[in-house]
Amino acid sequence: MISETLQKAMNAQVTKEFYASQLYLAMSAHFEAVNLRGFAHWMRVQSDEERGHALRFFDYVLERGGSAELGAVDAPPAEFGAPIEIFKEALGHEQKVTASINAIYALALKENDYAAQAFLQWFVSEQVEEEANATEMIDRLHMAGDNSAALLMLDSEVKARA
Ligand code: FEO
Repeated sequence: MISETLQKAMNAQVTKEFYASQLYLAMSAHFEAVNLRGFAHWMRVQSDEERGHALRFFDYVLERGGSAELGAVDAPPAEFGAPIEIFKEALGHEQKVTASINAIYALALKENDYAAQAFLQWFVSEQVEEEANATEMIDRLHMAGDNSAALLMLDSEVKARA
């Protein structure tokens, strides 16, 4: 059985992951609107991943005999800036998620909950990848600068993201 404290933290994480899913979906809609379909696809894939993360926590709480209490998910912003600003926002968001995962991990350590630590390990590794992916996009957008052709080439390339 999971502790009340861990259950509360994991339920809160479900809401955070759903918010991330909403945020990236809103970013995807923005990119669609400005005809940057590759970036829109990248964000759409990211949004789906976040929903998967939310459900992993949701399922885990239930598996440990806890109760899944779903919280309200805030609305994401409706307006966005230049592509590089959007990816910087995504990275900033991932850094917050990393801090949140680490805080839950610290809780699992404090409680000597070895099963929860094993479960959370996947997320610790996943966050390294998430931050690296966003950083790569920022670096490449930085290289493209004001060059529209380079921007369109990058957009076209990320269409292939699985
Ligand atoms: Fe679910 Fe992007 O962290």
